[in-house]
Amino acid sequence: MTLIYISIILSRISGEFVMAKLTAEMKEAFGKMKIFPVATATKDGIPNVVPIGGVVLVSDDVLWIVDNFMNKSLENLKSNPHIALYVWGPEIKGCFQVKGHATIKTSGREFDEMKAMINKKNPMLPARSLIIMKITDVFACLPGQDAGKKLL
Ligand SMILES: Cc1cc2nc3c(=O)[nH]c(=O)nc-3n(C[C@H](O)[C@H](O)[C@H](O)COP(=O)(O)O)c2cc1C
Repeated sequence: MTLIYISIILSRISGEFVMAKLTAEMKEAFGKMKIFPVATATKDGIPNVVPIGGVVLVSDDVLWIVDNFMNKSLENLKSNPHIALYVWGPEIKGCFQVKGHATIKTSGREFDEMKAMINKKNPMLPARSLIIMKITDVFACLPGQDAGKKLL
């Protein structure tokens, strides 16, 4: 147990984030979701939330979020990389609040891959930047006894 705490503290100090891997149930819910409410905040904590369709689960602990038309969201992420979204809809079992850390890419292999993927679906979309969200925490958000409980 002590070793786990030490490695968490060391990874925080070294700037790494302790990533959280989504379970099969969470990934199934992700696959059914069409639009995600994506929340960011200014450095001073003023919140901003927008509907985003371009969210892709690329591995168990990484999401790609496509910036086509972001303004405040993008500005917020440049000064405050904390980002959150939730996964819920009438067709989805459970409700998952997902928090993470964002990195913005406007060039490179991952950016090119994202742009090609988006433009294959819709060549009119600008795909201006790629937001790589590393998942750090997941909380339950269904009403009831477990509401707000940390799952990952
Ligand atoms: C259904 C829906 C899906 C959207 N999907 C995206 C998206 O994938 N990427 C994007 O940049 N904006 C998308 N938008 C636009 C953003 O929600 C938002 O209007 C824009 O990012 C500007 O908000 P901001 O200044 O708070 O960042 C979508 C809007 C709607 C209504």
